Amino acid sequence: MNLKETILNRRTIKPMHFNGENVSKEIIEEMLTAANWAPTHRNTEPWRFVIYSGESKTKFAKETAEMFRQVKTDEGKMEKTAIDKKFEKIQLNANLSSHIIALIMKRDEEKRVPEIEEICAVSCAVQNMMLTATANNVAHIWSSGGLTFHPEMKKYLNITEEDKILGFLYVGKSDLKPKSKRFIPLEDKVIWKE
Ligand SMILES: Cc1cc2nc3c(=O)[nH]c(=O)nc-3n(C[C@H](O)[C@H](O)[C@H](O)COP(=O)(O)O)c2cc1C
Repeated sequence: MNLKETILNRRTIKPMHFNGENVSKEIIEEMLTAANWAPTHRNTEPWRFVIYSGESKTKFAKETAEMFRQVKTDEGKMEKTAIDKKFEKIQLNANLSSHIIALIMKRDEEKRVPEIEEICAVSCAVQNMMLTATANNVAHIWSSGGLTFHPEMKKYLNITEEDKILGFLYVGKSDLKPKSKRFIPLEDKVIWKE
């Protein structure tokens, strides 16, 4: 696959469509190396990743599912049946995934660049990972659901208040070949000034 084909072939695939097969550590390492070559203003290199697989993935899913249940029960805004359903789904998604990668922006201690630039840099790193996954026929989804942006998740991942969790990359294998979908025509997103 050349670069253009890889970009056009990248598609989000949800864990419910993963087949439970594992992805090799070599491919995950290739994804991380690609991430590490993202652009970074003033070389702050703000991307950090925590990679869960095997037993650590099961533990992560169990603990974050319990955290979700606790937070939502305390908030009192969600039906108990919906909470229970999500509790099971978090663990099922993890079971079907080969790896779960926490996507973290580590804030530069001297704040040499605006926060938005650090988020941009990590997003570029994540896109590099997803394109590398695509090139290796590896299914993935960048998920920001559940408690991604909740302070409890920061505590769980042991990151500072200034750092940010941008989501979780669920990685696995899938037999599904999703079609591309774009709803807004490109012309509506571009202004040419000539
Ligand atoms: C920052 C970010 C967060 C996302 N979070 C979710 C999510 O929580 N759940 C989900 O189903 N998809 C999530 N997605 C994936 C989008 O649903 C997906 O990119 C979109 O449907 C377009 O499909 P494509 O990636 O195949 O082009 C997220 C994407 C981005 C960039």
